[in-house]
Amino acid sequence: MDLSVDLSSEAFKAHPYPAYAALRLDSPVHRLTGPMGSEVFLITRYQDARDALADPRFSKEPKAAPEWAKVMAGVGDDEGPMGRNMLNSDPPDHTRQRRLVNKAFTPRRVEALAPRIQRITDDLLDAVAGEPETDLMAALAHPLPITVICELLGIPLADRRDFAVWTRMLLASPATEEGILSRRQGNEEMSRYLVDLIERMRPGVDPDRDPDSQPDLLSALIAPGREDQLDGRELLGMVKLLLVAGHETTVNHIGNGVLALLRHPEQLALLRSRPELLPAAVEEMLRYDGPIERVPMRFTTEDVEIAGTVIPKGSAVNIVLGSADRDERRFADPDALDIERKDNQHIAFGHGIHYCVGAPLARLESRIAFRSLLDRFPGLELACKPEELRWRIGGPNIMRGLDTLPVRLGTVADVPR
Ligand code: HEM
Repeated sequence: MDLSVDLSSEAFKAHPYPAYAALRLDSPVHRLTGPMGSEVFLITRYQDARDALADPRFSKEPKAAPEWAKVMAGVGDDEGPMGRNMLNSDPPDHTRQRRLVNKAFTPRRVEALAPRIQRITDDLLDAVAGEPETDLMAALAHPLPITVICELLGIPLADRRDFAVWTRMLLASPATEEGILSRRQGNEEMSRYLVDLIERMRPGVDPDRDPDSQPDLLSALIAPGREDQLDGRELLGMVKLLLVAGHETTVNHIGNGVLALLRHPEQLALLRSRPELLPAAVEEMLRYDGPIERVPMRFTTEDVEIAGTVIPKGSAVNIVLGSADRDERRFADPDALDIERKDNQHIAFGHGIHYCVGAPLARLESRIAFRSLLDRFPGLELACKPEELRWRIGGPNIMRGLDTLPVRLGTVADVPR
């Protein structure tokens, strides 16, 4: 069996699942040369992936892997392109940083955002209703999450377009000169903007602003009494992380989810006829084609044996969520989209201490987006052949998402508001 995988090729991105199935079978801990020329281990089975996500021997800090830290230093971001943040920290730093934002994302706090998210979604769909055909990525999947996360953080909406551009620049490939330059430039421009914004939002700078009475998260993070909890570098890293993690992921989840439904008309019809299945359908879309194909790199702090393979201390490891969630050892008929699936303990949001802090928000956005889309456009269908769709390649390539998603909207249903 051919087990060669080129994670950055267009062909692989178009059909990654058969290749991952072959790895699960014959090489569940697979060593390969990553796009930056250094060695990476892929973990592809569900139980191994879940265990590794919660295993403290897998550090998030690149300094645990000197070879890798050297490569990252070469691209000018030895802490990752988003700087120092909870996603690339181990306890106790991780614990302290996460505690500061946990409260903002509890299901109850997030649920209060529903009317506003519904309004943003309705406005976006109003703008394209009546058009025969549209690119759903541009019309809904991109603008909805970036608008929501900017509002939540307190970032002026007028600047949200810049963030979409900077995020793309930050996620450029570190394997090419052009990509390295793009990462540096994106990072610098975003940092400059945010440092200035944070300064303007600090108590006392703008007499009309009282951070204590501002409902946004950024004001809460810099409110008096909070200064000692995050240093300047960490505050910047936190805001960048929330913007990037809270944006690209949900964009691709909406795109991949709509595509999955459109390619399975019987499941789409079932969901239309039984709207109460929506929460389960969202979980199944996350399992079937989640937006994070591989979680950001972890590094072994000692030799770790998994499925008979020893991963040496100081190695870089990629846990492949996209493969784990299709593991036949865990899920019956894993390549089928089944919105009535029982016992769907997917790991699209991760597991362990880094489990996605934004999961309640992502689920809410996604449920509102799918419900509104299906209610408004009963004839929604794909406007191209599936093989004409282009999956995004480039960057560290850990995301799975479409460049564009051309759809025919059909007639617009009159939905009560
Ligand atoms: C469908 C959408 C989303 C998916 C599939 C997703 C997935 C994930 C995954 C797999 C992780 C763990 C990464 C790891 O272990 O290395 C993670 C962490 C994280 N996510 Fe999400 N995410 C989504 C949406 C969001 C949103 C909307 C936010 C908004 C704020 C967010 C913020 C974060 C943060 C801050 C972390 C780091 C948590 C930590 O290190 O403790 N995510 N996400």
